[in-house]
Amino acid sequence: MALLPVAVVISGRGSNMEAIVRASQAAGSRYQVVRVIADRDSAGGLARAAGLDIPTGVVPVKQFADRESFDAALAREIESSGARLVALAGFMRILSAGFVQRFAGQLLNIHPSLLPKYKGLDTHARAIAAKDVHHGASVHYVTAELDGGPVIMQGRLRLRAGDTPDSVSARVHALEHIIYPHVCSLIAAERVQCRNGAVYFDGEPLAAPLLEENDAAA
Ligand code: GRF
Repeated sequence: MALLPVAVVISGRGSNMEAIVRASQAAGSRYQVVRVIADRDSAGGLARAAGLDIPTGVVPVKQFADRESFDAALAREIESSGARLVALAGFMRILSAGFVQRFAGQLLNIHPSLLPKYKGLDTHARAIAAKDVHHGASVHYVTAELDGGPVIMQGRLRLRAGDTPDSVSARVHALEHIIYPHVCSLIAAERVQCRNGAVYFDGEPLAAPLLEENDAAA
């Protein structure tokens, strides 16, 4: 059976990218990562990807005058890879509506909160300050609304007394490394689909995000 070609787009260290790649290299995977693309050549994930034998590409954001021309170059890089699913993984740019439309239903992001809570930045500090019981991460389809697209799966943990943004970040990352490859696998197996802006799971509209709970995550 043909493997679903996936591109992973990063700006930073790429630990989620690595988790997605490692899962794809395990026996029985239904997807393969065909390219890791960064918006800067300083992204630590590029060396990680090369070490995992994944082709890499860089679309240096500094060389583009505006968002539209950068997004057009990024779209060309993705399309030249043959990818049919695009996973943003620590990609620190806001994409134009035209880019999002071009890849509608094929574009994923991971966000470190239980969306719709805490869109944007500093999510761990905000969850701690609010004394939330639970916190976590969400994998969602990308729409024109920042961190606003339909959520497919969440990883959820309990906040602990004395938690700091750093301690929470480590536990959230551990959950992210489970849920992001899992979602890629579900899409490759055609168990998860995006239709008319809604998530379908096994042919039925998804009433609430799929949930991975792991309070023991390191
Ligand atoms: C993750 O916490 C993810 O939720 C957010 O950016 C971070 C990326 O981390 N979007 P890494 O580069 O995958 O390690």
